Amino acid sequence: MRHLIAIRDLEREEIEEILEKAAYYKQRGAEMDSLLRGRFVAELFLEPSTRTRFSFEVAAKRLGAEVLHFDGQVSSLTKGESYEDTLRTLEALGVEIAIIRTAENDFFRNVEGKTNLALVNAGAGTWEHPTQALLDLFTLREHFGSLRGLTVGMIGDLAFSRVVGSHMHLLPKFGIHLLLAGAPGMTERKEDPYPPTVKLCGIEEVIREADVVILLRIQRERHREEASFSKEEYLQKYGLTVHRAQGMKPHAMIMHPAPVNRDVELESSLVDSPRSLIFRQVENGVYTRMAVLQTVWEGKKNVQLAHS
Ligand code: CP
Repeated sequence: MRHLIAIRDLEREEIEEILEKAAYYKQRGAEMDSLLRGRFVAELFLEPSTRTRFSFEVAAKRLGAEVLHFDGQVSSLTKGESYEDTLRTLEALGVEIAIIRTAENDFFRNVEGKTNLALVNAGAGTWEHPTQALLDLFTLREHFGSLRGLTVGMIGDLAFSRVVGSHMHLLPKFGIHLLLAGAPGMTERKEDPYPPTVKLCGIEEVIREADVVILLRIQRERHREEASFSKEEYLQKYGLTVHRAQGMKPHAMIMHPAPVNRDVELESSLVDSPRSLIFRQVENGVYTRMAVLQTVWEGKKNVQLAHS
């Protein structure tokens, strides 16, 4: 695997290998590694990020890499340089791996095959966020021990969620049932429709049936129209309140890819409750991304060897 672009491109065995590598790095804790010593990794975040950007940076530095930050606002993209030429320029400068966040769903499909950089999708529009889905899977396996037969419920802005775009292909590969629910106008994925394995249902059903409830942020920045409800109304009608959470299975847990809008998609106290795995997800993001960087780096070296 030379790139990590989309979960839908991966075999279950490839994903399992990433999870095993992540477990290895987690067991080593903060210990440094020399896998990428002397190598350059570039972060091109063309949309805002806290967790993904910094966890990739920590991951790359723990593997010994030098990390370069590309700032789109002061780059030659503003002078009309294409994405393809930007990536080829980084490659010519000696960068090996490019970690990219973009607002464009088809960014990776457009540049794939046009650069020798190893490409890592750090979130592409409303299409896929593969490393978020992988770290969620790692967290589920860590907490529950076994994945087969679990029911994961996702509630929120399904229409614009790239996390849903990855999970709808990831979870069924592991025998996990995926139930989805959202407010009116937030469920239809026009550009990237659901596969037949996922089930759309009501919020109360998701809360009652799920072993894990994953809340999703309302992606106001992607909406063309103002929401017809206030934040308070959203929480009461469609969010996870303390009252609604009492209807979850006794063992059921709460997750959220974050950033969390407290008291919108879920009541603030639930974020900090014993049921919440939200900050564990962030912690596991570093180990999962170390595993991803190792995987694409080894893939890139293998391709270079095959061509030498
Ligand atoms: N979950 C996630 O992608 O968070 P950031 O936008 O902060 O990277």
